[in-house]
Order: sequence, then C-alpha cells, then structure tokens
Amino acid sequence: MTKALFVVSECAPLVKTGGLADVAGALPIVLAKHGVGVRVLLPGYRTVMAQLGKTKTVARFDALFGGSAELLSCSVAGLDMLILDAPHLYDRDGAIYGDATGADWPDNAERFAALCKVAALIAADGIDGWTPDVVHGHDWQAGLTPEYMHALGVTTPFVFTIHNIAFHGNADAGKLGDLGLDPARFTSEHFEFWGQISALKAGIVGAAKINTVSQTYAEELLTPDFGIGMDGILRARQSDLSGIVNGIDVDVWNPATDPNITPYKNAAGKAANKKALRKTFGLGQSSGPLCVLVSRLTEQKGIDLLLDALPALLEGGGQIALLGSGDPKLEIALLEAADTHANLAVKIGYDETLSHQMMAGGDAVLVPSRFEPCGLTQLYGLRYGTLPLVALTGGLADTVINASPAALTRGVATGLQFFPINAQALANAFVRLCDLFQDKATWKTMQRNAMKQPVDWDTSAATYKDMYARLTEVAS
Ligand code: ADP
Ligand code: GLC
Repeated sequence: MTKALFVVSECAPLVKTGGLADVAGALPIVLAKHGVGVRVLLPGYRTVMAQLGKTKTVARFDALFGGSAELLSCSVAGLDMLILDAPHLYDRDGAIYGDATGADWPDNAERFAALCKVAALIAADGIDGWTPDVVHGHDWQAGLTPEYMHALGVTTPFVFTIHNIAFHGNADAGKLGDLGLDPARFTSEHFEFWGQISALKAGIVGAAKINTVSQTYAEELLTPDFGIGMDGILRARQSDLSGIVNGIDVDVWNPATDPNITPYKNAAGKAANKKALRKTFGLGQSSGPLCVLVSRLTEQKGIDLLLDALPALLEGGGQIALLGSGDPKLEIALLEAADTHANLAVKIGYDETLSHQMMAGGDAVLVPSRFEPCGLTQLYGLRYGTLPLVALTGGLADTVINASPAALTRGVATGLQFFPINAQALANAFVRLCDLFQDKATWKTMQRNAMKQPVDWDTSAATYKDMYARLTEVAS
C-alpha cells in the first residue's frame, strides 16, 4: 500500500473556509479504496482542538517557531489525522488565517512554515513507525515543505496541488532567519519572488509533480492573466503540470439520503424542498427559476457582475436565494440590493445545513466566477438536479455542458455557460435561463442529465494514485 502524507491548512469536517477543506476531507477516503493510505497533517487551531476526542501524542518539538508543540494522532470521520498542536501559533480567537477584522495574522509565515517543517520531519524520520512514500502539499500553506525536506536531505517525492494561485503566501525577506530557510537558496531559481519569500513558488519549484484542480485551469495558469506572476515559473515546469478535476463526497451530498432535506431520487422530488426554501428566505411565488448561490464573497466570485445583471433575471420572473460571507463591501451591496428587490433574498453567514437545503430547493445554481480553479457548488448542483449557470472558466468549463443548440438537439446539456465573463453576458444567460425554464420538457431532460453525470472522486483518485505510483517507482 502506498503511503501519502497530506499537508493542508483546512480539512472537513474539522475546519473549513472553502473547497480545499472538502478536498482534504474526501479524497483520502477514496484513495484508501485505491490502495493509498493517507495521513492528513493539519494545524491544531483552537476550533480543531475543541472537536478532538481520543488522541495519541506521537512526537514532541521543544522549539518550533517560538514555542513547544506536540503532534497528535487521531481518527476523525474516517480520516487518519496528524494534528499539530502548537498553541503559540494556532490557539487564538478569530479565524484560521486572520483576526476577527479579517486582517491576516502577522505571523502566518511562521504558522504555516511550522506545518511544513513538521511535514519534512515526518518524511525524514517517520512517525509511529509510519514513513510516507509521497508527501502531498496543498496550496501555499504547504509550499515550504520541499525546502525543509531538502535541508534535511530527504528525497521523498513531493506533489504540489494548486487550488488557488491567487494566494502566494509571500513573506518579507527579513524573515529568512526566523523561518530557518537557507539564504543561499533565496534566488529566483528557488523561492525568491520579486524580493520576497514565496511559499507558493517554493512549492512549485520543489515539487516532483504539480497539479491543479481542473484541466482548463491548468492551461489558464500558463497565461499571464490567470498565472498572476507565476505563469513563467509554471511554463518552465509545464511537462510536470497537470489538471485533475475535483470530485465531491457523494455520501455527504446525496439527495436520496441527505438528512438536511426532504430526500428525493428524481427531480420531481425537489418541489417540497423548493417550497421550504422559499419560506426560509422569505421569498414569494414566482413564475421563473429560483436560483441559489452559496459562496465566499470575494472579487473572484463575480458577485458584482451578478448585481449588475440582476434585472434580466428578475424581469424573467426569476428569484435568487444567496448565502455567503466575506468582503464587507460586497455583503453591504447585497443586503442593500435585497432591500429593494423582493425576489432577491440574502443571508450573510456560513451555514452548512442551509447550503444543502439550497441545493435541494433551487432550480438553478449560479457560479459567475471571474476565475474558478474547479468549483464545487456546480457539482453539488448537478447531483441535486439544480442546473448550474456558470462562467466559462476553469473547472466550470470542464464540468458543465452548455445548453447550446447542438447540445440541446442531442439532449446532452446539463447547464448554461456564459462568456465573456462580464455583466452583459451574464444578463444574456439569465434571459436564456428563464426561457429554458419555461420549456418544461427540455428542463426535465437537463435535470436528468445533470443527476446522472458522475461527480464522485473515483476517476480522479485513480489518477492521483497512478501519479504517486510513478513517482515512488522512480524514487525506489
Ligand atoms: P472556494 O474554495 O473557492 O471557496 P469551492 O466552490 O471550491 O470554492 O468551495 C466552496 C465550498 O464552501 C463549498 O463546499 C461551498 O458549499 C462552501 N461554502 C462557501 N460559502 C459557504 C457558506 N456561506 N455557507 C456554507 N457553505 C459555504
Ligand atoms: C479553491 C478554488 C476552488 C476549488 C477549491 C478546491 O479554493 O477557488 O475553485 O474548487 O480550491 O480545490
């Protein structure tokens, strides 16, 4: 059995701010079925520590970036977890990446360098008689791992998955000493990026294989618009870069058994959930599609485009139920718009149960992102017969079949895509959505197609397994 160490900053169900947590919580379970044993190394944030049951201390560190720490082994929701309990880094009020005002923690570089350092030590010495064959880091928070492995002389292959290139994890060059990094490697070939330490670049440069979470985003990353400064480095590593699309946990997201909803096996069963959802959001009856949107509220997610295009949907009798939190400016703009439009209802907050109810009760799920490495809510939508209306980018391009005339004629469409990614094209898509919704036979066919589309992890887990196998063959 191949042994893989995941190095990751969030993992469902323990701690989640976005899709990264879903991936870290679901992929290891499916990898196990493919003969890969994964242990997940995660920071012991206060919220994580509060949820742990029985744990076993498997290592102690006297001096880990300013304090002592312990590594705890435990099992959570079928996951084999290694929790880094370092109170000086993780036991604090506020969120996992920043304080209550939303500002990043000033010591984020140290907080995630500690995670990487411990990953490297596990690769070097093993833990509890277990030594990984592969170390698999996710996003910049895991990016320094290969630097620390190099310093320890460890040659275990490192796989780096980019979930979102918008976050570089840069730190001041003055932190080289604090972070215990080799100044001789503070060069453009290694982890120096425009005069700063870039954890993301360290991960890209130090990885044996790099992947991202869809084929289209892998291609987009090579362009200046999407690569955000890393496109040149990625082009240099192009032969080692691939796109492996995310799946979802089809047990947690199963309309036939979902405990949060009135369960259903086919789209006809959505009616009771739609009624309940309208009630929850205080929406009245309407002749058009009830659209849902569940998201972090950031520039990436195209919420401003949605507000600009809104009239086209409302004029077609459409409604929106929106759940999200994030940028205060976007939150205020949404709440103000909801005050003036009876068919737009907004809840600011984070609510896992409600997100399930929205997928069950909605007719369509909106994902108007400016860029989207993969995106998960369109996959939930497909599984729940809630047709995705998405921007044509990244994973949204790869997972939805646009209702083009040809796709409709062949009866294979599963949703709608719009391009270019601007308010006008979104407004046009809203008009198409409203028209399609009135064509009941076509809508039903699309729902059937959507619910049949495989969105599980099986194929992608097999691809990861093959990648690990090739790397470990080369390494041994
Ligand atoms: P990203 O990781 O960029 O935020 P994804 O679509 O990959 O985007 O994943 C987002 C995940 O977070 C999904 O599981 C989504 O349902 C969940 N999510 C986002 N915002 C909320 C919220 N306000 N309440 C509940 N779940 C949310
Ligand atoms: C990132 C991306 C999102 C992706 C998720 C999981 O947060 O923004 O598109 O689905 O990671 O890979």
